[in-house]
Order: sequence, then structure tokens, then C-alpha cells
Amino acid sequence: MILPIVAYGDPVLKKEAEEIPEDFPKLKELIDNMFDTMYAAHGVGLAAPQIGKSIRLFIVDASPFADDEEGEEPDPKAEGLENFKKVFINPIIEEETGEEWSFQEGCLSIPTIREDVFRKEKIVVTYYDENFDFQEETFEGYAARVIQHEYDHIEGVLFTDHLSPLKKKLLTKKLTKISKGEVSVDYRMSFPAIKAGKRR
Ligand code: NI
Repeated sequence: MILPIVAYGDPVLKKEAEEIPEDFPKLKELIDNMFDTMYAAHGVGLAAPQIGKSIRLFIVDASPFADDEEGEEPDPKAEGLENFKKVFINPIIEEETGEEWSFQEGCLSIPTIREDVFRKEKIVVTYYDENFDFQEETFEGYAARVIQHEYDHIEGVLFTDHLSPLKKKLLTKKLTKISKGEVSVDYRMSFPAIKAGKRR
């Protein structure tokens, strides 16, 4: 089932999310719905707060970033993305190392805005997978980038929070419009300013 994605301005996106127990009700159904929702919106990652649930759970499928074009120069940052479909439950980024590199990020909760964000290139993350098996893994490049972005969501941080104060100021009008639903988007969303009963 495709769920509406919460737009910028909703307080749930600014909240630090809670860990969940193994017997969390209807966890499998929730994860399936999150994948349906992410694919319908053509995203490569989706965190539970983005569907209005303040829990420490996110999913990724960055296989669209994989180098599948024949004859193209391989991009070292795209290594290992062919099957990069994962569920992260109660994750902890244990370590972030390497050079900071910039990449133009976007977010399903902040449609139409894309900005360069600097993040470190390598992470070590511990988490529980969809079967609640404990995992410890190292990720680099785009894989690390997607996890860092989604991890921010469960900490109540958005990519726009990483921008310079000036850059953020320049985006204020656009962000306000997004929160009011004054944005063209081809997937289901829920807009905080409309939900609160304020009309345009
Ligand atoms: Ni996002």
C-alpha cells in the first residue's frame, strides 16, 4: 500500500525517533508499505518519520545508482550498489571517516529542491535487518551517502539543515510553499499547513 509522504514543515520530521522492539506490531507490513511508497515516488531511501511514524527504521534501494551502462567509465563511488536494497532497524552510525565530499541531495519530503551537501565518505553502521538479525557493515560512496541521509531523518535532521545560513535563507520561500502544498509533485503527499486547517 502506498502511503502519503509527509512534507517539509511537519513536526514529525524534526523529532528524534524512538527505537522499536522486535515484536513491533505489523512490522513486516509496514516495511512492505514503505517499499511500495518509496518506489512509487522513485526514491532511493525512505525513513519512517517521512510516513509520519517517529520510529528508528529506514529502507534503501540505491540500485538505480549502480553502474549498469555498458562502456561507461566506472564510478568508484557507485561500487556495490547493484543489490543495495536493505532495511535498517535501530541503526547506529558507529564511525564516519574519510574526506568530506559534496553531492547534490534531494528528499522526497522536500520535492523540487536539490542542494550540495558535504558528508564523510565512509561509515561503519550497526543495525538490525528485517529479520531482526544484528548486522555490522562498512559502506562507502553513494551507499554511505544514502544511509547518512536516511539516518539523519531518524535523528530529526533534514539535508537542508546542513546548508549554510545564507543558502537556507534563500530557500525559505520555496520551503514555506512546499509545506503549504504549493508544489507540483507526482506522488502522494501530506502537507502540514493544509493538515492544520490553514488554507492557502
Ligand atoms: Ni530525505
